[in-house]
Amino acid sequence: MEIVRAIGDVRSHLAGVRKAGLRIGFVPTMGFLHAGHLSLVEESKKYSEIQVMSIFVNRIQFNDPKDFENYPVDLERDFALACDAGVELMFVPDEREMYRDRLAYVDVDVLTDNLCGARRPGHFRGVFTVVSKLFNIVQPDVSVFGQKDIQQAVSIEKMVGDLDFPVRIIIAPTVREDDGLAMSSRNARLSPDERNRALAISRSLRKAEELLRSGERGSEAITTAMRKIIEDSNPTSIDYISVVRYADLQFADVIREKSVIAAAVFYGATRLIDNMIVDMDGGGPRCLY
Ligand code: PAJ
Repeated sequence: MEIVRAIGDVRSHLAGVRKAGLRIGFVPTMGFLHAGHLSLVEESKKYSEIQVMSIFVNRIQFNDPKDFENYPVDLERDFALACDAGVELMFVPDEREMYRDRLAYVDVDVLTDNLCGARRPGHFRGVFTVVSKLFNIVQPDVSVFGQKDIQQAVSIEKMVGDLDFPVRIIIAPTVREDDGLAMSSRNARLSPDERNRALAISRSLRKAEELLRSGERGSEAITTAMRKIIEDSNPTSIDYISVVRYADLQFADVIREKSVIAAAVFYGATRLIDNMIVDMDGGGPRCLY
């Protein structure tokens, strides 16, 4: 695996690859890799021959400076994991290489109105800006994002369409620990007790599935049942528990079409998110989480 820190080195490394007619798959990350990140590389291999990953803890997407300062970092471990997973080019820029005296930003309306967009001012603008830059630097044929950050993935799909980025976006399923906790770099910040209590989030999604299967379609009834489970776990605070339509991520009172049920909860200083896609095609609800 080649590790490069300069934009020019990414371009020169990939020019030959492109000339040889090989397709480039790209997985952008902020590092502290886990099996969720590595599953995106696996998915990317289905559509491309050369795997590129970036690790960049993107300050401008952190609305909370303390969250940025506490973000876990272990590059040596990340390099070993990525290399084993078949990443051939690792791009690890520093802040100067990426931003210098930047004034331009990229944003997406409507899809960022609710959920994390409402709770983290400036967050998505920072995400879309860095992802746009990375797409322009790497120029991948395909880029894979996790369902775990569903609002990010759906919005990037829209951004790519609206701005004519020549890249195909794939959304891959959430990878979970055996006990149901969605994998996240931030899980490393949880105390054993907080981690145990945080299992209430995935449990609340399973409850939502159970209610949907028994015929419940009302968002209020579903989020009330989820809230009870999460409140019983003594969270530090609940950011949101919401039901939105998949198509535009606007609130839905009744689940009639493809939807997303999502929650964001603090345990201590750590904010965790999780979600479930509810597919209403073919009659019954099919829950993906
Ligand atoms: P990061 O949180 O490192 O996540 C990188 C990618 O891994 C994202 O597409 C995310 O959805 C995916 N991911 C995280 N946890 C996952 C899990 N348990 N299962 C499957 N996929 C998972 O998301 C970001 O970084 C940044 O916002 C970024 C896109 C890199 C821009 O800075």
